[in-house]
Amino acid sequence: MEGTRTAGNVKIFENPQQVARAGADLFVSTAKSSISDRGLFTVALAGGSTPRLMYELLSTEEYRDLVDWPRVHIFFGDERCVEPTDPESNYRMADEAMLSRLPIPSYNVHRILGEGDAVANASLYEDDLRTFFEPAPFPNFDLVLLGMGPDGHTASLFPGTPALNEKKMWVFANWVEKLGSYRLTVTPPVINHAANIVFLVTGESKAERLPEVLGSVRDPQRLPCQLIQPLSGSPLWFVDKEAAQGL
Ligand code: 6PG
Repeated sequence: MEGTRTAGNVKIFENPQQVARAGADLFVSTAKSSISDRGLFTVALAGGSTPRLMYELLSTEEYRDLVDWPRVHIFFGDERCVEPTDPESNYRMADEAMLSRLPIPSYNVHRILGEGDAVANASLYEDDLRTFFEPAPFPNFDLVLLGMGPDGHTASLFPGTPALNEKKMWVFANWVEKLGSYRLTVTPPVINHAANIVFLVTGESKAERLPEVLGSVRDPQRLPCQLIQPLSGSPLWFVDKEAAQGL
């Protein structure tokens, strides 16, 4: 892609549109190889605002016929404790941008319940994942999509929160003091058992933290993105020029 620069596992693109396109291309290529190998593709979606462009792109004419959608299983990396109709809901964002526009069977969409009791919902989602992935010791997603917050958090693994140290549970109701609320999130070992992981990071608000996260000084309690070290090798980073200005 024109104007792209690569430094190790970090790819720097001109703008958010190119980041979305690179993400969509990776989604398609990973889906194709997983489906041809095993007959299905499992992906954990990122929330927040950055992935919306990529999700919308996947549902366009240009991309929609490139994936065998009935063989795709959609999971979520995290969710806010809100109704699925709430503007803050990660499920709602993904549904509007992609899920409602593609022939994915509804029983292939594994939503995290944001409404109701957070601790109970974390356990329900863990049951859903265990039903799907056991006897594997942890879910082995074909692809996990992640974002990065300006504070260095990813999924809902926020600095200094209990979920950062979780080694056994698959899903955690994480109390986030600065938000004054719980967030539901898969845990670091779950993410790190994925075959492929990509961070999509765009915009100036991420520029200060990104060099720290990618730097050699390890401080995962303050920079939770640093907890993401997949067994299968390094995660990919697709970032735009604005977010990469400090690199
Ligand atoms: C969430 C996400 C979170 C997100 C970052 C970046 O539910 O908010 O899963 O980890 O990826 O906060 O958010 P933006 O893409 O909106 O900058």
